[in-house]
Amino acid sequence: MKPNLLSGIQPTGRLHLGNYLGALDNFVKLQNSGRYNCFFFIADLHSLTEDFKPKDKNQQILNLMADYLAAGLDPKKSTIFIQSQVSANSELAWILNTITPFGELSRMTQFKDKSKDQASNINVGLFSYPILMTADVILYDAHFVPVGEDQIQHLELSRSLARKFNKRFGKTFVEPQPLLTEVPRLMSLNNPSKKMSKSQPQGCLFIDDSPAIVKKKIMSATTDSGKEIKYDLKKKAGISNMITIYAALSEKSIKGIEKEFNGESYAVFKKSLAKLINKYFADYLKKKKALLANPSKLKKIVNQGAKKANKIANSKMNKVRDHLGLL
Ligand code: ADP
Ligand code: TRP
Repeated sequence: MKPNLLSGIQPTGRLHLGNYLGALDNFVKLQNSGRYNCFFFIADLHSLTEDFKPKDKNQQILNLMADYLAAGLDPKKSTIFIQSQVSANSELAWILNTITPFGELSRMTQFKDKSKDQASNINVGLFSYPILMTADVILYDAHFVPVGEDQIQHLELSRSLARKFNKRFGKTFVEPQPLLTEVPRLMSLNNPSKKMSKSQPQGCLFIDDSPAIVKKKIMSATTDSGKEIKYDLKKKAGISNMITIYAALSEKSIKGIEKEFNGESYAVFKKSLAKLINKYFADYLKKKKALLANPSKLKKIVNQGAKKANKIANSKMNKVRDHLGLL
């Protein structure tokens, strides 16, 4: 039997190129490797811990689902679902609350960071976030969880909770292992010393930006003094970041790209990069547009995913109730 693999993204806005290279593109590659039994979900309950407008949430969820599918996640190969449509996720999270040591949860650095970022909304959900995340993962017996470095501490807690539950109530859960994404940390286009992040939208290249916007953003992206197209993170952070994008989307080596653009100007390189990005995402844009134009088809896929996920989750929850001695 193939090992289970599960991951998710919060629906909190449009996906930028950092999200794509750091998460979604990797999900698609893992799915297509055929080595895993894959689950990918939309972490909408997690996203409620941040400020949001209810009138936008629905569209954010459907938009992310369209991103998943247009980028290549395939409901025939993977179970793709929306977290809030599986009530067992929340039920298990409550049960896990009762075995989570307060002290251990208090050490989570993401909670500390986010508390600073959203000082006027430090809700309990933000604090207990890693418990819900643990439920997401262990409910589906995920052996592997592809994540960025910032989520490693949460997964350590997941492992510890799974172990604790198994020890106290009998073997029920798999201890999940992180699968670190081997991807560049993409930097902001207008400030290459900072990570590309939706909290700084001016520096983001969104993967559903129109070709004209992509060209405009790349042509005006921050470069460095000098003129050479050379990868040098210290002296040429802007150009190096763009070479990273070029390499990731063309699957050419950095050395090969430097050679190809030897003696060319920044403008020539940027034009070529914009063209490459637009070519790379053309098919995705077409598919995404078609999916969003056909909400009934999209909803059908969503419903099928929910059905598949609920079946697995409910069967696991029955076991959990049993082990806990609930009626
Ligand atoms: P943001 O930083 O824009 O708020 P999220 O925290 O919602 O993004 O991250 C969603 C996913 O995208 C995570 O798996 C994260 O590791 C990945 N990710 C976010 N920004 C980058 C980046 N600049 N480079 C690589 N991966 C990223
Ligand atoms: N915490 C993850 C993030 O912010 C999203 C997430 C929620 C997740 N539950 C998960 C990722 C379970 C992997 C597995 O990016």
